[in-house]
Amino acid sequence: MISKIQELLREVEAFEPQTPADLESFRVEMLSKKGRIPSLFQEFKNVDPSQRKEMGARLNQLKEAAARKINEWKEAFESRETESRPEQPDFSMPAGLSPLGSRHPLSVVRNRINSIFEKIGFVVSEGPEIEDDWHNFSALNFPEEHPARDMQDTFFIEKNPDIALRTHTSSVQVRVMENQKPPIRTISPGRVFRNEAISARAHCIFHQVEGLYIDEQVSFADMKQTLLYFAREMFGEETQIRLRPSFFPFTEPSAEMDVSCNICGGPGCPICKYSGWIEVMGCGMVDPNVLDNCGIDSSKYSGFAFGMGIERIAMNIFQIKDLRMFFENDIRFLRQFSSAI
Ligand code: DAH
Repeated sequence: MISKIQELLREVEAFEPQTPADLESFRVEMLSKKGRIPSLFQEFKNVDPSQRKEMGARLNQLKEAAARKINEWKEAFESRETESRPEQPDFSMPAGLSPLGSRHPLSVVRNRINSIFEKIGFVVSEGPEIEDDWHNFSALNFPEEHPARDMQDTFFIEKNPDIALRTHTSSVQVRVMENQKPPIRTISPGRVFRNEAISARAHCIFHQVEGLYIDEQVSFADMKQTLLYFAREMFGEETQIRLRPSFFPFTEPSAEMDVSCNICGGPGCPICKYSGWIEVMGCGMVDPNVLDNCGIDSSKYSGFAFGMGIERIAMNIFQIKDLRMFFENDIRFLRQFSSAI
């Protein structure tokens, strides 16, 4: 009997199953009711009483060794199974929020300007960024060699005939007048280019919105009222405007429009440089020469035009001190406008 026990013990120790099924058949073979170890226990009844103690101990050791072996392998197979099982998706988990982008502050301001004018019947029109001399200068009454052309430092692409990056969106009003009959009510947002040194207050690329209103008997008073409406929609109900005489080749008379400071409301603060006023746009009655240049009868029609810089308004509304921020596209800056629409 002792040799049988020893042999079984060796078998138990050497056993290495390949699959859980191997392990199960080994368990049945060794430990099930009629298995090899229980049948040794049967034989134990016939063992000589003097040997019983030792034999009993050995038998128990064998049984324990087999049980331990089976358990170890069972655990090994189980952990292998959980490792190799692909992770199950948890359908009850709340969905992760995908990051939302935000509109660029210049787009926010441009959209606001567009919708303020759209409410009173203006339609948006666009023109090319690369312009010929006619649309950027000549049709707008800038005479050849006139110093007015020096007001804007132009990026020329070709000379004679001159092709340049547009220096203002006033070029779009020429294109609209050439292609449409009055009444005309249009605003033209877009990118413009000037050969200027980049600083906190100037850039060689910036954005403007041009406005144009042409019909019979349009007066300076119509312009004033339209721009007052715009200023109050844009900067708040209490906003006042003032018009200062100015000069542009394409308007006569011309003016600069200021709005009362939307920060201090008038008494003066660092934003309005203690003047109480903030310069917002140029404007004026379209010069009859410009109407005629664009094929509109200046004896029948009149109109007003205006042009404003989007950066300047955005800097004012969002209190941005450096214009270069708009072009750096630093995500930490842009994220701050996620609630603006
Ligand atoms: N084009 C002018 C500029 O870039 C702005 C401007 C002034 C536009 C007066 C107008 C206007 O239509 O009437 O400085």
